[in-house]
Amino acid sequence: MNEKIKEYSSLIEENLYRYFKGSIPEYKTLFESMEYSVKNGGKRVRPLLTLLFYNACGKDDVLKAMPMAEAVEYIHTYSLIHDDLPCMDNDDYRRGKPSNHKVYGEAVALLAGDGLLTAAFERISTWSMAGLYDAEIAIKAINELSIHAGARGMIGGQIIDIGNENNPDADFNTLQLMDSLKTGCLISVACALGCIAAGASDDLVDAAKTFGNKLGLAFQIKDDILDVTSSLEKLGKMTGSDEENNKSTYVTLLGVEKCEELVKELTDEALKALDVFPNNEAIKDYANYLQNREY
Ligand code: IPE
Ligand code: IPE
Ligand code: MG
Ligand code: MG
Ligand code: MG
Repeated sequence: MNEKIKEYSSLIEENLYRYFKGSIPEYKTLFESMEYSVKNGGKRVRPLLTLLFYNACGKDDVLKAMPMAEAVEYIHTYSLIHDDLPCMDNDDYRRGKPSNHKVYGEAVALLAGDGLLTAAFERISTWSMAGLYDAEIAIKAINELSIHAGARGMIGGQIIDIGNENNPDADFNTLQLMDSLKTGCLISVACALGCIAAGASDDLVDAAKTFGNKLGLAFQIKDDILDVTSSLEKLGKMTGSDEENNKSTYVTLLGVEKCEELVKELTDEALKALDVFPNNEAIKDYANYLQNREY
C-alpha cells in the first residue's frame, strides 16, 4: 500500500476518537455506543479520500482537513447503524462485530446514529471557530455535506432502496439513481471536502465530485458483488443480506460478471477526472485498490 495512504490511515485512527473523550457521566452509554460503531473494522474510505484530495490540491498539513474527515466518517457510521436496524436491512453484524442495536438495543442505536450525524457539523464548525480554517470554508463544507447526506442525497438513495424491496422490476435507471444517491453522494462530498478545506477553486471541487460520483457508484456495485461472493469472515458483515431482503441491485439485474466490468469501467472514468490535480498518484493507487478489494 502507498506510504501516504498508510500515514493518513494512522492519522485518522489517532484523531477519530477525540470526540468521545468528553463523555457525559449521566448517559455515558450513548457515547460508548457511538464510539463502539466508529471503532475498528471500517476501511475509512471516505476520510482517507478527504485527506488525499486535500493533499492533491498541493497541501501537506493534512491535520487541517481532519475535522472534515472525521465528519464524513461520523455520518457514514451513523448511516450504517441505521441501515442495520430491523426496520431497514435487519443485519446483525457490522465491521466484524455485532451491530450497534444487537449490543445496545434499538433505541440507543437510533440515538447513537442521531448523535453521530449531529457531531459531524459540530466538528466542522467548532474547529473553524477555534481558528483552524476560515468561517467561509466551514460554511461551504457544511452546506455541501448537508446537501449530499440529506434528502437530496444519501437519504434519498436509502428511501429508493427501501421502496424497491420486493420489486423484481426495478430498472437500470432506478438502480443507478439509488446507488449514486445512497453511496455516490457521500463519497463524492468526502472528496470535495478535501478540496474545500484546501481553499481550492470551484473547478477542482467539481472535478473531485465527478471522481467521487463515479468511484462511489463503482464502490456500491462492488459492495453488491461482495454480498453475493464473499463471506462474513472476510467482509465483517453478513453476506446474502440483499437476497434475504429481496433487494434489487445491479447484481440481480446484470449478474456478477457484467458488474465486475462495470466497476472497472466506472473506476477508469473516475480516474480521468483526476487529470486537473497536480498531485494525484496516491488517489490513483487507492482507486485501483478499491476496485479489487475483497472486503
Ligand atoms: C458500506 O460502506 C456501505 C456502503 C455504502 C456500501 P463501507 O464498505 O465503506 O463500510 P466500512 O466503513 O468499511 O465498514
Ligand atoms: C448502504 O448500502 C448504504 C448506506 C448505508 C447509505 P448497503 O445496505 O448495501 O450497505 P451494507 O451492505 O449494509 O454495508
Ligand atoms: Mg441498505
Ligand atoms: Mg445494509
Ligand atoms: Mg450491501
